[in-house]
Amino acid sequence: MSEHTVQLWIDGQALRISAGVSLLAALEQIDLALGNSPGGAPRGAFCAMGVCQECRLRVDGRPGVLACMTLVRDGMRVERRR
Ligand code: FES
Repeated sequence: MSEHTVQLWIDGQALRISAGVSLLAALEQIDLALGNSPGGAPRGAFCAMGVCQECRLRVDGRPGVLACMTLVRDGMRVERRR
């Protein structure tokens, strides 16, 4: 494993991501939305500074984790909203 990347599990799929970035930035790097709206459209972040709560995801089994305020770490398991 490179020092400069971490492995995340996103919806059960292993992906290598640059280290030292927020989870929101990581999802943007690999062109993944936060999830889908009830109508099926991809959901994105709004404020990217911890205010709007639009980026809440389940991380390592914990619901409501703000992707924009959470740094990626090796082995992190992320479930996007569906
Ligand atoms: S994008 Fe607004 S709280 Fe994360």
